[in-house]
Amino acid sequence: MIPQISKITELLENSSTATLFDDLEKLSLSFLNDSELEYLENKTRKETDCTVFKYPNILLFSKIKEEKEQYLQIEAARKAGSKLFDVLKAEKIKIVQLINYSQPEYLPAFLEGLLLSGYSFDKYKKEKEEFYLDEVLIFDNKITTEKIDEIKNLAEAVYHSRDLVNEPLSFLTATQFSKEIEKLGKESGFSVEVFNKKKIEALKMGGLLAVNKGSIDPPTFNILEWKPKNATNKKPVVLVGKGVVFDTGGLSLKPTPKSMDFMKCDMAGAAVVTATVYAAAKNNLPVHVIGLIPATDNRPDGNAYVPGDVITMFDGTTVEVKNTDAEGRLILADALSYAKKYSPELVIDIATLTGSADIIAGGQAIVAMGNTKEYIQKIKENGEDTFERIIEVPLWEEYAKSIKSTIADLNNLGTREGQTTIAGKFLEHFTDYNWIHLDAASVSFRFEKDNYTPVGGTGYGTRLLYNFLKNIN
Ligand code: BES
Ligand code: ZN
Ligand code: ZN
Repeated sequence: MIPQISKITELLENSSTATLFDDLEKLSLSFLNDSELEYLENKTRKETDCTVFKYPNILLFSKIKEEKEQYLQIEAARKAGSKLFDVLKAEKIKIVQLINYSQPEYLPAFLEGLLLSGYSFDKYKKEKEEFYLDEVLIFDNKITTEKIDEIKNLAEAVYHSRDLVNEPLSFLTATQFSKEIEKLGKESGFSVEVFNKKKIEALKMGGLLAVNKGSIDPPTFNILEWKPKNATNKKPVVLVGKGVVFDTGGLSLKPTPKSMDFMKCDMAGAAVVTATVYAAAKNNLPVHVIGLIPATDNRPDGNAYVPGDVITMFDGTTVEVKNTDAEGRLILADALSYAKKYSPELVIDIATLTGSADIIAGGQAIVAMGNTKEYIQKIKENGEDTFERIIEVPLWEEYAKSIKSTIADLNNLGTREGQTTIAGKFLEHFTDYNWIHLDAASVSFRFEKDNYTPVGGTGYGTRLLYNFLKNIN
């Protein structure tokens, strides 16, 4: 839960106080006695640390680690915020006032790290998470209340995308996903249109329908739109998210339980798209943005699509299905073709598309590719700023060889080697506009806590895409 955050003009006497600093010399610490001062110096000399002492008025000191590059320095501030949260939780401190003695630009990142750390998913637990941070009081005249609200709304958006990923299929079917999107639209102000199975059939979205064939639950196709009057872009930015609410692999069943047990995360791209449009609406971004989310589960069953099937996609392209576990590209392809009708300025798709993105990125980045140098450069910069980083791989023509088919226009598999790029080449076939493909399979779901990122759904990509939209002009 996100705490209340307000600015204060006077420090409260009886409240825990966290001091953010990069250089101990800059602090006036005359109120500390010699042994306290020595303790503080020893604790914080070398690394980022939170130091707690002086009960009952607890003092916390958060040091920002020194880094060579500015974006690393900002990330160090987020991490310091996350360390502070860990200490507050351990000490059960529910109200904290913050003072900033470091650079003004470190405070927003520190606050972001603090907020992102407060997430927990306890909906299905009988014993609920017992610690929530209630209130943060900020004693600083440089940060504006607008900036505080923006950080808060964005953290809330990240929470929503984590929630959606953490929800299991027993709750989050494609139909339920659409309901959740509608709820978030009502709350933040974006509009939602949901196509049901009949409409999807009428539109002949062959990729989405093929993947859905083995399911007892119908698919949905969701259109989210944030179109403010003061939008600075004439043509919309379209975000496309892979919404496979569970991926068993279908008849090409996943080979091990371990490769399947976290596959509720296969709609993480869709969760990020939802959360990004939500954040844009909540923060009133002057950008016209549309989200497209094809949603279904992927299951084996009596009527499931089989390897060898030839399917006809929304745009008329025929595809020979060689592996039913390469389903993401099939549902994304229909959405990418559908996006053409908006004459978009740019389309970005985000998806947990290939296991080999994890081989490339090792849990540290989204793998990106596309046909627009200028926008890829921009998204890389936003990747550093938000520390939701990007590794770019090229879309060389040679990578398209293995997705040719002897009996159809394309096949959905290609070689194992180079798979992340090959999947990108498959998607490229369905685009005729500025386009970026983001494969987030390496970063959407974590098995261990990492600073301000919890176990489970990470929301990785939400802050990236929000900042990208914000800086688009
Ligand atoms: N959903 C998976 C990809 C994935 C793997 C996401 C690990 C998150 C973590 C995708 O649908 C898939 O199964 N891809 C296959 C493609 C292969 C059959 C060409 C893969 O990467 O193994
Ligand atoms: Zn799959
Ligand atoms: Zn998948």
